[in-house]
Amino acid sequence: MSLKESLGTIYKKLVELVTPDVKIDMDNIPKHIGIIMDGNGRWAKRRGLKRSDGHRAGAKTLEDITDYCSKIGVKFLTVYAFSTENWKRDKAEVDAIMELIYEYMSNMENLIGGKDCRIRVIGDRSRLSDKLNAKILEVEDYTKDRTGPTLNIALNYGGRDEILRAARLAAQAVSEGKITADGIDEKYMSSLMYTGDNPEVDLIIRPSGEKRLSNFLLWQCAYSEFWFSNTCWPDFTPKHMKIAIAEYQKRNRRFGGV
Ligand code: IPE
Ligand code: IPE
Ligand code: MG
Repeated sequence: MSLKESLGTIYKKLVELVTPDVKIDMDNIPKHIGIIMDGNGRWAKRRGLKRSDGHRAGAKTLEDITDYCSKIGVKFLTVYAFSTENWKRDKAEVDAIMELIYEYMSNMENLIGGKDCRIRVIGDRSRLSDKLNAKILEVEDYTKDRTGPTLNIALNYGGRDEILRAARLAAQAVSEGKITADGIDEKYMSSLMYTGDNPEVDLIIRPSGEKRLSNFLLWQCAYSEFWFSNTCWPDFTPKHMKIAIAEYQKRNRRFGGV
C-alpha cells in the first residue's frame, strides 16, 4: 500500500469515528436497498490518487456494506456499478473499472459476501467482454442456491434501457399471442424488469453529494424513499448505512393513501 493509500485508510477511520452511531429498529429493516456508488473519482482526486484507485477503494467499501447488510437482514441490495452512460469516459478508466469488476468476481469467496450472498448482474451484457460475461455466469451459477441476501450488481445498466427492454419483451409476447395488449399491467411490466422477482425498492441511497438518479431504477423507484449523503462512496461506512436506515424508519410511507 502506498503512503497516499495508507493516508486514505486512516482518513476513512477518522470519518467512521466522527460519524454518529445511531440506533436502528431491527424489526423494520428495508427489504430492498439500492445504492448509487458515486464519488470514487472525486475521492481519488482529493488525495492525489488516480481515478482507478478511487474505484478500487469503492470496491472495498462494497464488501463492507454488503457484509453489514447481510448482518442486519437486508434481503436485497442493488448497487449501481456502471451505467449505460459511463462508456463516455476515457477508455483507460472504463477498462480499469471492467478489470476491477472481473477481479472482484474472481475473488468472490474472499470478497462480496463470500459467505452466503446470491450474486446477480443486472443490465445489458451485450457490450461486456466475453471474458467478463463468462465470469458473471460462473459467479451467478455458483451462488444461485445461497439463502442469504441477493446482491444485484448493476453493470451497463440504465433505467430507460431496462424499461425499453421490458417494452420490447411485452410487444413480443403480444405478437406471439401469449398476452393481450390490455393484459399488460403494472405487475406484468414489473415482472419484465431485471429485478422482476425482487420486492419493491424501499430505500435508495446516493453518497457523494449529487441529488439525482442518473438513470438508476427508474421503474422501481416509484415509491422508494431517498437518502443522500455528502460522503464519497470510498469513505462510506456501515455507520452511514445505519443513519440512512434510521432516517428511513422515521418516514411516513403513504403510497398515495392518507
Ligand atoms: C462512481 O464514481 C463510479 C462509477 C460511475 C463507475 P465516479 O467515477 O462517478 O466518481 P465521481 O462522481 O467522478 O467522483
Ligand atoms: C452514476 O454515477 C453511475 C454510477 C454510480 C455507477 P455517475 O457519476 O455516472 O452520474 P452523473 O454523471 O454524476 O449523473
Ligand atoms: Mg460520479
